[in-house]
Amino acid sequence: MRALVIGASGQVGGALCGELARRGHSVTGTHARVAAPGTVPLDLADAAAVERLIDGLAPDWVFCAGALTHVDYCEGHPEEAERLNRDGPRAAARAAARIGAGFVFYSSEYVFDGTAGPYAEDDRPNPLSVYGRTKWEAELAVRDALTRCLVVRTTVVYGPERQEKNFVYQVIRCCRAGERMLVPADQVSSPTYSGDLAAASVELAVLGATGTFHIAGRSVLDRYRFAGLAAQVFDLDGTRLEPVSTASLGQRAPRPLRGGLNVDRARRTLTTPLRSAREGLETMRATIAPQEKLG
Ligand SMILES: NC(=O)c1ccc[n+]([C@@H]2O[C@H](COP(=O)([O-])OP(=O)(O)OC[C@H]3O[C@@H](n4cnc5c(N)ncnc54)[C@H](OP(=O)(O)O)[C@@H]3O)[C@@H](O)[C@H]2O)c1
Repeated sequence: MRALVIGASGQVGGALCGELARRGHSVTGTHARVAAPGTVPLDLADAAAVERLIDGLAPDWVFCAGALTHVDYCEGHPEEAERLNRDGPRAAARAAARIGAGFVFYSSEYVFDGTAGPYAEDDRPNPLSVYGRTKWEAELAVRDALTRCLVVRTTVVYGPERQEKNFVYQVIRCCRAGERMLVPADQVSSPTYSGDLAAASVELAVLGATGTFHIAGRSVLDRYRFAGLAAQVFDLDGTRLEPVSTASLGQRAPRPLRGGLNVDRARRTLTTPLRSAREGLETMRATIAPQEKLG
C-alpha cells in the first residue's frame, strides 16, 4: 500500500513508519515541530494544507497519529486542542474520503471516565478531560466522514522512541540518576508496546477492517507497578520510585483511574501478539540495548 502517516515524528507515528517500511509498503510521514528523517512538514490545524498533501500523494491509507498529546496543556487550551485533536483529523478524514482512501484514527482510553475499566469498544465514553473530549468528538467526526474508517484506541504507549520521552524512558532516567520519582499507584491501565500497536494497525488496514478496536497490552496494572516492573526488567534500582495518589500530584486535567482497555476484539481478529507489560519491556530492552552500546 501507499501510506501517509500524519505525526510520523511522534512515538506512534515513528513506530508505524518503521512497521510499514519493514513490510514493504511505501510510506510518507509528516512532522510538525520536530522533523524526523525523511518527514515532510504538516500542520493539522491548516485544513487546506492537509487536503493538498492528501490529494497530492493519493495514499491508499492515511494513519492519523498527529495530535496535541499533552493532556494538562489541552486542559488549559481547549480551543487549540479542538483545532488539532478534532478538526484536524476531521479535515484529513474528509480528504481521505474524497480520494477513496482508508483512514486510521488514533484515539485514547481517556474517552472513558475510569470508573469501571477495563473497557470494551462498545462501552459508553464519558471523557473527564478536554483531551479526552476532543478525542471522542474526533472519533465521531471521522466516523461520520467516511466508511473506510478505523478508530484505534490505545493507552500508555512505550517502546523504543527517537525522542525518548515516553514513561519508561522517564523511569529509566530517574532510576539511573538515583532521583526520586512520584508515580501514581491509583491509575490502572494497559501499557501498550508501540511495536505491537504499529503491527496491529497495519494488519487491520491490510485486512480492510473498519470500526473501533482497542489495541493495548494485555496486562492491566497501575502506573506504580508498571514503573517497578520497568526498573526490574532494565536491572535498575527502583527504590526511589514512590507510590502516590493521582490527587496528590495536582495535575490540571483529571485522569481516568480505574481504566484499561479490553482487547478481546483485537485478539479475535488479529495474529499480531499484544504483549504483556513484562514481555513488552523485555522487548524494548533487547531493542535499545545495542543502540545504547553504539551510542
Ligand atoms: N502515547 C500514548 O500513550 C497514547 C495513548 C493514547 C492515545 N494516543 C494517541 O496516539 C496518537 C500518537 O501519540 P504519540 O504517543 O505518538 O504522541 P507524540 O509522541 O506526542 O506525537 C504526536 C505527533 O503529533 C504531531 N503534531 C503535534 N502537533 C501537530 C500539528 N499541529 N500538526 C500535525 N502534527 C502535529 C507531532 O509532531 P512534532 O513532534 O513534529 O511536533 C508528533 O508527530 C495521538 O493521537 C494520541 O492521542 C497516544
